[in-house]
Amino acid sequence: MGRPRRPGRRGEPQAEATRLSDILAGQAGDPELLAEIYDLEHDAVDEDLAFYREWARRAPGGVIDLGCGSGRLFEALLAGGATRIVGVDGSPSLLARASARIDGHASLREARARGRIELAEADVRRIRRPERFGLAIMAGVISHLDGPEDALRALSAARHLLEPTGTLVVDVLGPGGLPPHDLPLSIDWERDWGDRHIVRRSRLERRETPEGLRVAYATLTDVVQADGTIARLPASFRLWYPRAAALVALAGEAELVVHGIFGSHDLEALDDDSERCIIVARPRVDRPETE
Ligand SMILES: C[S@@+](CC[C@H](N)C(=O)[O-])C[C@H]1O[C@@H](n2cnc3c(N)ncnc32)[C@H](O)[C@@H]1O
Repeated sequence: MGRPRRPGRRGEPQAEATRLSDILAGQAGDPELLAEIYDLEHDAVDEDLAFYREWARRAPGGVIDLGCGSGRLFEALLAGGATRIVGVDGSPSLLARASARIDGHASLREARARGRIELAEADVRRIRRPERFGLAIMAGVISHLDGPEDALRALSAARHLLEPTGTLVVDVLGPGGLPPHDLPLSIDWERDWGDRHIVRRSRLERRETPEGLRVAYATLTDVVQADGTIARLPASFRLWYPRAAALVALAGEAELVVHGIFGSHDLEALDDDSERCIIVARPRVDRPETE
């Protein structure tokens, strides 16, 4: 396979960029139910909340959470002092969950009533906003994009959203968090959910490429109702886990300067065992030429 094409200049057709950004819409199962199950799985993840709270404190001003999902990070960002939060996602079902989350938390509800929280349905590869932000976050989003071309579009879009001194945090799975081999269909987890019982199975196939690991990930979620009937929800995702070097190179192409590379939310150095690969970047500021 040849080297991936680079995106065209502005005005040229960008076929890839027109692809759907709603990761739940193309699935056979009901997107609302998939979004509910997504929350059941992701809401338990809290080890990164202190990290994002701290970034909201370090990079004062507004925060744009690109690929915000159901708004898992919002409370931490608000607690860190974000003056405004814009949560962007391509999935209306996940944004509806984010809205319900805001309604259910007094501090978020009040912030929204004061115009400090806004939700927007948009594609992170093409988003434009009139305002600029002190902090842009892309947590777990790059892996859902199709590869380097899409990632470059998203990083460039993020740069345009930042104030000149703003900060972009890109957070993906690190080398130590990636699956070391293919996994056959097997049970991931099972748990009670109100009067329902959920059984989640998944399988994955991995493929090493020069720009990172490609993973075909398929899930099969059985929702067992109290009366014994079962709703079976299949879903599949193509995921891409770039190497740190590829991500840094793409950030450079997007006219961002990388200020830090970390292997965990505790800011440990990135190595082969790191669970995360986190890149912190700022817009490149071109100095005026002196005569
Ligand atoms: C793994 S989830 C992470 C959610 C959230 N950032 C968090 O950390 O909890 C990835 C999110 O990216 C969103 N997403 C994927 N591709 C997108 C695109 N092209 N435009 C907008 N959102 C996208 C998905 O809908 C999903 O909510």
